[in-house]
Amino acid sequence: MSVSEPKSSFLSQSRPWSVAVIGAGAMGRGIAQVAAQAGMSVRLHDAVAGRAAEAVIAIRAEMEKRAAAGKLSREVCDAACTSLVSVEELADLADRNLIVEAVVEDLEVKRGLFRALEAVVSADCMLATNTSSLLVTSIARGCAHPERVGGVHFFNPVPAMKIAEVIAGARTGPATVEALRAFVADIGHTPIGAADTPGFLINHAGRGLYTEGVRIVAEGIAAPHDVDAVMQEAAGFRMGPFQLFDLTGLDVSYPVLSHIYREFFEEPRFRPAPLLRRQVEAGLYGRKVGEGFYRYADGRPVPGAIEEIPAEWAPRPVWIEPDDRAVAPWLSARLSALGVPIHDGACPGADAIQLVLPIGEDATSAAIRHGLDLQRVMAIDPLLADARRLTLMPTVATRSEVRDALVGMVRTGGGKATLIHDSPGFVAQRVLAMIVNIAADIAQQRIASPRDIDFAVRGGLGYPTGPLALGDALGPRTILTILERMQAFYGDPRYRPSPWLKRRALAACSLTHPDA
Ligand code: NAI
Repeated sequence: MSVSEPKSSFLSQSRPWSVAVIGAGAMGRGIAQVAAQAGMSVRLHDAVAGRAAEAVIAIRAEMEKRAAAGKLSREVCDAACTSLVSVEELADLADRNLIVEAVVEDLEVKRGLFRALEAVVSADCMLATNTSSLLVTSIARGCAHPERVGGVHFFNPVPAMKIAEVIAGARTGPATVEALRAFVADIGHTPIGAADTPGFLINHAGRGLYTEGVRIVAEGIAAPHDVDAVMQEAAGFRMGPFQLFDLTGLDVSYPVLSHIYREFFEEPRFRPAPLLRRQVEAGLYGRKVGEGFYRYADGRPVPGAIEEIPAEWAPRPVWIEPDDRAVAPWLSARLSALGVPIHDGACPGADAIQLVLPIGEDATSAAIRHGLDLQRVMAIDPLLADARRLTLMPTVATRSEVRDALVGMVRTGGGKATLIHDSPGFVAQRVLAMIVNIAADIAQQRIASPRDIDFAVRGGLGYPTGPLALGDALGPRTILTILERMQAFYGDPRYRPSPWLKRRALAACSLTHPDA
C-alpha cells in the first residue's frame, strides 16, 4: 500500500523521527523496538521507576536474539541497541518530534499525560495514542492543540503484526494524519486509515465472529467446540470464536465486547450474551488460567469428546428436495462419495430421509414450506461447497432414527459432521453473514474504504479472506437473504442488513467497489 507523498511543512519538520514511547508494557516495548530497528532515535519512559530501563534491557536482548538467528542484520541491531534508551523524567522528552503513548487504558490517565506532555514538548511535536477502545477525540479534549493529537493503533505483538490503524480525531489536523501515516510506513508497517469510532476498523470488524458465535451457544443451538469446528473446518478460519476467547483471555475480551456495545449505544449487532459474564465471574479466562471454554494441560488444550457414531443406526436412502438440489449441486456427489445412497426421484421413497438445504431458514420452517413430513426431514448447510465438515440439523420433530441414520452414514463414510439443534442459518451462514454485514456497515459509515477493510481484517484478524470479498464470493444476494430471513424469524434488528449490503445485493454490484 502506498503512502501519500509528504505535502506539509509539519511533516518535513518531523523527519528524521525522534520518538518517545510512553508506557513500557507489552505494546510500548513493541513500538519502541520497531522504531529503533527502523533507525529512529527512541526514548522509552514509564511512570513506574526502573520499568523503562528494564524494558530496554529486554528489547535489546530480543534484538540480539533476532540478530543471532539471522533475522536482523548486525548493523541494524547494533544501531538500534544504541539509539534506544530509557528516561525517567517526562522533561527528558522535550526534544522529541513524535510521542507515542501506550500507557494503561484509562481516559483520565491518558488525558492527564497529554496535558503534561504539552507543557514539555515543542510546538511541532506530534502526540499519538495507541488506545484500543477510547476515542482519540476524548483523549485530545483538554489539549491546547488537539490538531496535533492523533491515533496510531498497533496490534500485539507489534513486530509481527505489520499494520497500524491511523485515526483522526474530530480535531486532528490533516498534516498530523499524514505525518502519522508516514511514521507507520517508515517503521515498515502498513498504515490503514480509520475514523474515530468505537473499535476503529479492526476491532469493530471483529465483532461478528465473536458475538454471533456466542449467540449460537447462548441460544442452545450448538456447543462452543461445535461452533469452532464449523468455523475452522467448514468456513476455513484459523480459529473459531471460543478458541480465540481462550487465547486472548476473557478478562481482556469481555470488557472490549461490552465497551463497544455500550459505545455504539447498544447496537444489537454487538450485543454480547450473559454466558460470557458467567465465565468471567468464574475466572474461566482461558489458556492463561488453564480453563476457559476448553481445558488446558501444560498450555495445550485437553482433547474433547470424540465425535461418535450413534450406537444404533441403519442406512437409509437420502432424497434431496428437488427445489433445493440447485442450491448445492455438489452435495449429492459428496454424499455418494461417503457411501450415502441417494434417491433421485421427484417424490421421496417410504423410508428415505428427506433432505432440505435452507438458506437463512431453520429446518422446521423449510420442511413446512416444502410440505414435507417433519419427522423424516434433516437439513444440511448448503452454503460452502468446499467445506471439510458438514453441518446437519433436524427439525423440531425429526425422529431420532432418521437423525442417527444420517449422522451414522456420514461419519462411517469418513466424513466430518457437526450435529446442531434447529436454527435459521445453521452456524456458518449466521456467523459469515454477520461478519459481512458488519464490514458492509463499516464501509457504509465511511469508517474505512472497502479496500482497507479487507486488507486490515486479513492482516489484523488473520481471516482467510477480507469480509467484503467473502460477501462477493458467497454472493451479496445470498448474504442478504440469510439476514432478511433471520431478521424475520427472530424479529431482532441485530440481523437487519446494512444499507451498503442491501443496495449492492439488489443491484448485483460488488461489495468491494468503492462508493461513487
Ligand atoms: P500494559 O499494562 O502492559 O503497560 C502499560 C504501561 O504503562 C505500564 O508499564 C504502566 O506502568 C505504564 N503507565 C501507566 N500509567 C502511566 C503514565 N501515566 N505514564 C507513564 N507510564 C504509565 O499495557 P499494554 O497492553 O501495553 O497496553 C497499552 C496501551 O495499548 C493501552 O491503551 C491498550 O489499550 C493499548 N493496546 C493494547 C493492545 C494489547 O494487545 N495489549 C493492543 C492494542 C492497543
